[in-house]
Amino acid sequence: MAPSRRIAVAGGKGGVGRHLVEGLLERRDTLDAVIVLSRSASSGVTFHGYTAPVIAVDYNNVASIESVLQEHQIDTLISAIYVSGDELITSQINMIKASLNVPSMRRFAPSEFGYGSENAVSVTEYYDPKRTVLKYLREAVEDSKGRSGRGLEYTMFACGVFMNYLGYENPRPDREKAYGYLQPIAVVFYFSQGKAVIPGDGKQKQWWTRGEDVGKFVAAAIQLDVWPEVFNMAGSVATGNEIVDVFERVTGKKLDITYWPKAEISAQLNQIAKSSSGPISSSGFDAPNQFMEKTFRESQLVLINQELPSNMNLNEATDVKPMGLEEYLKLWWGSLKN
Ligand SMILES: NC(=O)c1ccc[n+]([C@@H]2O[C@H](COP(=O)([O-])OP(=O)(O)OC[C@H]3O[C@@H](n4cnc5c(N)ncnc54)[C@H](OP(=O)(O)O)[C@@H]3O)[C@@H](O)[C@H]2O)c1
Repeated sequence: MAPSRRIAVAGGKGGVGRHLVEGLLERRDTLDAVIVLSRSASSGVTFHGYTAPVIAVDYNNVASIESVLQEHQIDTLISAIYVSGDELITSQINMIKASLNVPSMRRFAPSEFGYGSENAVSVTEYYDPKRTVLKYLREAVEDSKGRSGRGLEYTMFACGVFMNYLGYENPRPDREKAYGYLQPIAVVFYFSQGKAVIPGDGKQKQWWTRGEDVGKFVAAAIQLDVWPEVFNMAGSVATGNEIVDVFERVTGKKLDITYWPKAEISAQLNQIAKSSSGPISSSGFDAPNQFMEKTFRESQLVLINQELPSNMNLNEATDVKPMGLEEYLKLWWGSLKN
């Protein structure tokens, strides 16, 4: 299959989506069109001297999505939307239905951008809708091939956790730049408080990629001739203890570390399941609600169980040089040493 030339990013004004659009605009001179789909029209997304127009669609209406893909002769639709539960399923199933009806459409990527929902089986409620979308995608593509001979190439972009979270409350005056377009939160490491709550015994590998680099990776992936079912990318894969070592070396500060065994996380998940009064919040890493608290704990089980891919095939297939953990920690935390 030929590389993509006309790309639409659904949710391209959101956290991850905006990084994808910027990655694409960085390479805009090699592409014919980059557009953003949104539930409401607004001014475009500008980066690197180019603007991607924002076009309103109704994700509940297949014809509405179809008419935008048709009008702009889109060949590749990348979903970066997020909404919990059934709406995530319906919106993306409608994108798939529309894609299969538009002759110019050749490629689709559902909104994944995490551990890869099919790998990370410990994550339940948060990833169940993503797995439902993938199941529908496979079946719809096979069905379409059987009926009309026309398929759709698809891939799941998996990047682990956003490295930007390791910049939370960093000491630099321009600290917010560390977060990219992502929510400022602490995940595993709460460096500004001098602590870390590491799932397992610190010897399990963790998987981190900066949002900015996810954008560059996806922009490089659309230039490839063939998409496998999964594209894994990483800025760094390192154990919890290795990350502690890097931080302590870069800053000269000691971290207070708590190791969280599987049994304790499972006990917390049981407690969350029985509680109806919001997050139980015993780790110091406050989740905004019970659903996210459950998701954070389940994500820790993913690390303990090492439900991670065996290769980083998108790193291998492209020339993208992502920022690694050491460079990121030096950049945002290195001034503590002075
Ligand atoms: N790996 C990680 O560490 C990590 C962290 C966070 C998120 N993620 C994943 O990254 C993906 C994007 O997450 P995000 O945090 O970037 O999302 P987000 O910013 O919360 O939302 C992205 C966009 O989704 C659109 N949207 C919201 N509600 C919608 C609805 N009901 N129907 C259709 N579209 C809707 C909005 O666009 P408009 O308002 O323009 O329509 C919004 O800008 C998700 O798959 C998420 O699970 C991964």
